[in-house]
Amino acid sequence: MNNMETPTTTIAVITGGADGLGLALGTRLVRSGRRVALWDLNNEKLQAAAAILGERVITQIVDVTDPVATKTAADALAAAHGGIDILVNCAGITGRTNLKSHQVELADFERVMRINVTGSLLAFQAVIPHMLQRNYGRVLNIASIAGKEGNAGMLAYSTSKAAVIGMTKVQGKDYAETGVRINALAPAVIHTAMVAAMPETQVHYMTDKIPLKRCGTLDEFAAMAEFIVSEQNSFCTGFTFDLSGGRAVY
Ligand SMILES: NC(=O)c1ccc[n+]([C@@H]2O[C@H](COP(=O)([O-])OP(=O)(O)OC[C@H]3O[C@@H](n4cnc5c(N)ncnc54)[C@H](O)[C@@H]3O)[C@@H](O)[C@H]2O)c1
Repeated sequence: MNNMETPTTTIAVITGGADGLGLALGTRLVRSGRRVALWDLNNEKLQAAAAILGERVITQIVDVTDPVATKTAADALAAAHGGIDILVNCAGITGRTNLKSHQVELADFERVMRINVTGSLLAFQAVIPHMLQRNYGRVLNIASIAGKEGNAGMLAYSTSKAAVIGMTKVQGKDYAETGVRINALAPAVIHTAMVAAMPETQVHYMTDKIPLKRCGTLDEFAAMAEFIVSEQNSFCTGFTFDLSGGRAVY
């Protein structure tokens, strides 16, 4: 199989795309002429995004933890648009934070793992057959600096993001001899609804560790993510890109 394929573009899927980082990247891709499908649970935010972004955007209410919903949505998109060439796994939650590890409740831990890890896998499994069929694809899993470094007070979240990084390493190798590239991105703090919902002390702990002494912006995220899912990113797979204002230098 040729691992340098670059076919014409079809459609990009962004999970958790109704808000935050996913919406910022979706907006950027639409403005550069791409068609984008936003998958999310929040219909109100999906409709607001569709109203702003116009006809290049398709919105689908998809719970990424549901294997039937993810497969049904992916198959319908591929049938309507001739394939899927980009998947960005952005759906994610922090769960309860600012807790010592012994205080973490099992139900909360399992919910975070199910959305952040299992959800990323299910979306991937729904989309990858369509990429392999055309021997081209770009997958981006949104991890976190928490997965590289371990943020105190965030056991469930940090564990889930470390798992996303591990999963990306395996997926990159599994499909390296095809035209599909699979990478992750590990941001530090970027102001979104997810961060706004966290306790102030937890957010202060994270921003204080950033050498640039500021949060990242949605534009900075979208610019890097756009490159990672582009055709130009052709000789990199299984890697976790950094977006941490100097916190991680590896
Ligand atoms: N904002 C940051 O500073 C930051 C830093 C590092 C990593 N991240 C990661 O980036 C991703 C996006 O974060 P964000 O800050 O944009 O969050 P956000 O809360 O603004 O957006 C996340 C979206 O995911 C959706 N979602 C949640 N559960 C879902 C499910 N089961 N199925 C489908 N959609 C679901 C939500 O409705 C929401 O629209 C997350 O994986 C997060 O862990 C964020």
